Amino acid sequence: MAFNHYNLIDITELSRDDIMTVIHTAEAMKEVNQREIKQLPTLRGRTAVNLFTEHSTRTRSSFTLAEQRLSCSVLAVSGSSSSMTKGESLTDTIQTLNSYNIDLVVMRNSYAGSSVKVAQHTKAHVISAGEGKHVHPTQALLDLYTMWRKLGRLEGLHVGFVGDVSHSRVCGSLIPALKIMGADVTVIGPQTLLPDDPSVLGIDHVSEHLEEVLPDLDVIYTLRIQLERLETAPFPSLREYNMLYGITEERERLMRPDAVIMHPGPLNRGVEIDSYIADHPKRSLVLDQVFSGLCVRMAVIYLLMGGNDNGVVA
Ligand code: CP
Repeated sequence: MAFNHYNLIDITELSRDDIMTVIHTAEAMKEVNQREIKQLPTLRGRTAVNLFTEHSTRTRSSFTLAEQRLSCSVLAVSGSSSSMTKGESLTDTIQTLNSYNIDLVVMRNSYAGSSVKVAQHTKAHVISAGEGKHVHPTQALLDLYTMWRKLGRLEGLHVGFVGDVSHSRVCGSLIPALKIMGADVTVIGPQTLLPDDPSVLGIDHVSEHLEEVLPDLDVIYTLRIQLERLETAPFPSLREYNMLYGITEERERLMRPDAVIMHPGPLNRGVEIDSYIADHPKRSLVLDQVFSGLCVRMAVIYLLMGGNDNGVVA
């Protein structure tokens, strides 16, 4: 199946077949990442710019490794040390970087629409690495890949998102992606953290009562409380939030025997997830998600830039 896309910004531009192509290519990249020599020559002589104006550990490190393992040269530009702190606009920044004849821009930014704007000012491929509380398409793809590897399917899975859905860029991309793949989606949390109109993302069910929903879920996807994006307190205290919505040892007993726990990171242990669950050897997929991030980002870069050939890695 051909993968006819130039940029990856909006997950809803991908079809079910496109997503399966990414998943199968990620599976091939997994094998590359387990070799002694973990590198393909695909992007030799090409240059990627990683333009991150918001903090990141997982996304930035995995994109950097993914580019290096595809033999691409990498230039890192961070907001805190760039001339954007002196007032340079995003457009002037990208036009400056264009002068080096770059081939790929991977960008994390606080503003909705910033990746589209950059794509209008460069001939390089553009991949969004997370935009404010709006979208995070490669996180969605790495989560789908993680579910597919662990549970063997996506269609018909019941996935429950617990917590701060309304400020979550992960939900902004992952919920529409799950709907493309035929999964059932429930969001659970206090009304103050849930979207005003759940139909915008394609959410199937809404609940304020975690215990009622937990026994029905295949995947419990718990979300970080994004304190940095909250304007007013959405609940009385973090302790109360943990009592009502934390994924704890007691609540684990309500889950299906084969249900799994996912979290995009960074974790707030003792708030949305207890250490017992975060480190649970059978339930927790948190570190699987990190490894999937590397495989999926290699796959996405490969498909956009190098190997548009039915997902078969050369
Ligand atoms: N999941 C995620 O985007 O993590 P980082 O903010 O560390 O990149």
